[in-house]
Amino acid sequence: MILYGTAYIDGELKKRYIGIEDGKIDFVKKHYKGDVEVKQIDEIILPAGIDLHVHFRDPGSTDKEDFYTGSKAAAFGGVTTVADMPNNHPPILTPDTFDKKLQMVEERSCIDFALYSLIGDDVGSMIEKTGLFKVYLSSSTSTEKKIHEDGIRKVYKNGGKIAFHCEDEDYFNKPGTDLPGYNNYRPVESEVQAISSLNELPEGPKRVCHISTKKGLQEALSDGFSVEVTPHHLFLNEEAFLGGFGKVNPPLRTQNDQIALWESYERGDIDFLASDHAPHLEDEKTDFIDAPPGIPGVETMYPLLLHSVSMGNISLSTVIETIAEKPGRYLNTKKGKIEEGYDADLTMVDFRKIETIDRENLHSKAGWSPFEGFNAVFPVHVMSRGEFLIKDNEFIGDKGRGKFISAKA
Ligand code: DOR
Ligand code: ZN
Repeated sequence: MILYGTAYIDGELKKRYIGIEDGKIDFVKKHYKGDVEVKQIDEIILPAGIDLHVHFRDPGSTDKEDFYTGSKAAAFGGVTTVADMPNNHPPILTPDTFDKKLQMVEERSCIDFALYSLIGDDVGSMIEKTGLFKVYLSSSTSTEKKIHEDGIRKVYKNGGKIAFHCEDEDYFNKPGTDLPGYNNYRPVESEVQAISSLNELPEGPKRVCHISTKKGLQEALSDGFSVEVTPHHLFLNEEAFLGGFGKVNPPLRTQNDQIALWESYERGDIDFLASDHAPHLEDEKTDFIDAPPGIPGVETMYPLLLHSVSMGNISLSTVIETIAEKPGRYLNTKKGKIEEGYDADLTMVDFRKIETIDRENLHSKAGWSPFEGFNAVFPVHVMSRGEFLIKDNEFIGDKGRGKFISAKA
């Protein structure tokens, strides 16, 4: 197959022929003379998104999401690769739980996926299976800490990578009953202290998940950790009228923090944009105190950012670097770029087609979005390894076609 259109290549939009064979980009050329039929693309061709942080709830809470609905929602948002977190029921901590999850996800996912493991006693076997690990930092007894440190050392020795959820419970206050109260409950200091404590852990690549505050970001940057930011911390703050629907860990912060995150995003300080797609049902989120924390976002992330590009609020190159190129490298995979030898994972968008986010048009089982009413640029076509998943806004992807990415070095 050969596509012809305006594509994002080497940091610029250029008119090119893109040859695709066996799911990979075979060539990118200015001129093509041959007898293969060329498919003219009227939209702008961009690398598809890679979301390093999703919770597709499978296994354990498939009433909130399963890997089919989650991966389909991702595809509608131009994301064709996800890395799924291990806080399942049961938690992904042993070879057996990992293998069962992998088998089930292989049957359901319509996009490619990587899977994180937690770090426990079995870390030696888990290293064989995946290069991605997740650590939830919280105050722990010294014995627990020792297990962690040995495990972390093992992961790093084998070329693995670790993503850290940084909130230190020692700095928590009393829970509040609204979003500013929730921000105060898990304050800035709890994030900063948790990030700073990573310096005491064994040497190796450390990625700080969902940084939400200016101080947290400064700490992570000065320590040389890689930095992940979510769309909800970029687009929302504690003043949003969301009640329990805005409850998330780490919390929505002040407007000042939100502005600081945008400024550092523009400066190029942020490595990864990741949704932390954490769906919960509408019923569960209506009562603030009882609402479980978490916000869905895999489908709206890239479209929100592309709208920001169309408004001149952020450069296309920064968005693509953080949503495709760097995440692709992080996963040790040939994804995230339109270049010979890379997977043909593409999203095709018309920047003039601005839509308002409406829950009726979204595909997560969550059934709601904190971004309702926000403007966004959704893709018209989406391709994964040369196969259309979305064609003219219609989903035509197959359940179970997604491939596992081990992400190992
Ligand atoms: O708000 C959150 N929800 N933060 C997390 O770290 C976990 C997530 C979830 O799984 O619901
Ligand atoms: Zn998360």
